Amino acid sequence: MNSQSAVLSSESPFLESTESPRSWWNDAVIYQIYPRSFADSNGDGVGDLAGVTARLDYLAKLSIDAIWLSPFYVSPQADAGYDVADYRQVDPLFGTLEDFDVMLAAAHARGLRVIVDVVPNHTSSAHDWFVAALAAGAGSSARARYMFRDGTGESGENPPNNWQSIFGGPAWTRTTDGEWYLHMFDSSQPDLNWRNPDVLDEFDSILRFWLDRGVDGFRVDVAHGLIKHEDLPDHDFGAPFEGTGNFGPMWDQDDVHDIYQRWNRVLAEYGGERIMVAEAWVSPPERLGRYVRADEMQQAFNFEFMTVGWDAMGLRRSIDAARAITGEVGATTTWVMSNHDVVRHVSRLGLPDPTSWPKGISASDPQPDYTLGLSRARAMTLLVLALPGSAYVFEGEELGLPDHTTLREEDRMDPGFYRSGGLDVGRDGCRIPLPWDSSEPGFGFGPAGATWLPQPPSFGELAVDRQDGVEGSTLEFYRAALLLRRERTLGFGDLNWHVSRPSVLHFSNSGVRVVVNFGHGPIPLPHGLDLILPSGPGAVVAGELQPNHAVWLV
Ligand code: NOJ
Repeated sequence: MNSQSAVLSSESPFLESTESPRSWWNDAVIYQIYPRSFADSNGDGVGDLAGVTARLDYLAKLSIDAIWLSPFYVSPQADAGYDVADYRQVDPLFGTLEDFDVMLAAAHARGLRVIVDVVPNHTSSAHDWFVAALAAGAGSSARARYMFRDGTGESGENPPNNWQSIFGGPAWTRTTDGEWYLHMFDSSQPDLNWRNPDVLDEFDSILRFWLDRGVDGFRVDVAHGLIKHEDLPDHDFGAPFEGTGNFGPMWDQDDVHDIYQRWNRVLAEYGGERIMVAEAWVSPPERLGRYVRADEMQQAFNFEFMTVGWDAMGLRRSIDAARAITGEVGATTTWVMSNHDVVRHVSRLGLPDPTSWPKGISASDPQPDYTLGLSRARAMTLLVLALPGSAYVFEGEELGLPDHTTLREEDRMDPGFYRSGGLDVGRDGCRIPLPWDSSEPGFGFGPAGATWLPQPPSFGELAVDRQDGVEGSTLEFYRAALLLRRERTLGFGDLNWHVSRPSVLHFSNSGVRVVVNFGHGPIPLPHGLDLILPSGPGAVVAGELQPNHAVWLV
């Protein structure tokens, strides 16, 4: 270890709240780092852990509370690291374990907590366990760690059931000896068998490995998928469903909660209020509350809200429903507008139909109106950051980055694009390497100008150096909003709606009045209040709030 290295300690540097029923995560703002696209330190065109360390001051200046890093573990990168071959090692693409320790200590020194991803639904097919399972053959204990089954049909030539992969095509692949294995994602991501005690023990140990290094929690990938219906019955893919989540015999089975109760006990062995946040696309949305019961996880992303779009009444209904669902189990709500799996909200909200939910945008699709999308996105930021609960910010959101909507097919990397035969555009558009310096090649993403996905030219004027210290820029707007949210403890507050018109959302929280104009014309603002933050320079004209804008007033 070099002189900068951290002293390994599983003890949390943060004080636990002893008297207050509040915990840090109840109101935390957590910034998602997608490591391969955040900052590159060695010039190979892929972001890395040393790149994160070098940018921690930038993050601390945003007034966030924690960072969450998407996977940086050893992986063939078939699904950008969500195909893990070794859960206890850093992939050389991202650096070393020592780089991780240095990053963690440096983040903690700045008062930033660190959450890492855990990917328990499936391993990579390059994981030792799966390699051993293929070699060991049918009926072996090595195969019992995964979901191997005989096929159907006269000689087992058909898959065991009709399940489809989320990335397109059948969810089963046949091995050379005739058995089939289940993969709800790519064929290189075999699903684990969570009814096997080996799997439970191994993941306890993986959690402890990272907790021992000092991490503050885990984002749990595909949290609703680990347990499948015991009989693996066919699914009726045409069945009507409510909400935006997944349902059926492969998702959200009641027994999955035993796992999170067990993990809750593992985390409780460590002080410092370590947390888990569920990535669980469940349907109906009421099912989400089960993941944040007192003896399970602390947070669950409220994805239903993210899918509503630019619709005042839809958002109000969604906010009230989400608060009721979490309130029922004594949890707080976790708001999110963008992440590495969805079209960035600047682009979504600028589409001709701002309530649509495309899986990606390509050059042949209707193109978003950037100016309109940015205006709405900034208004949404004032809405979301004024809501009680925790909020996640996806890297680059604070710069107003749009999706790359004209990526060439040959540049695409997402397995979803390839498995669907191009029917799904895929998620590459939201994963473009960040622009740090407009005057450098690759907009300063790394020292050599290389970027693993091409950046659109518009990223130049959105680069950090073009916004830093510039009044009215999206970056300075985010800094102001996040600081005010912290100073006024909005995340711990309460929400009271004011009577308004259908195209306006108007509420107060902790003395701050929030007004968002979703309509087509200007609206008068409430009298006698001072403007503390507009969503943009043109938000208020002659005392009236303009369409596609929002304000905070006191
Ligand atoms: C959800 C992750 O966010 C996504 O990127 C990944 O492809 C799937 N889970 C499979 O791990």
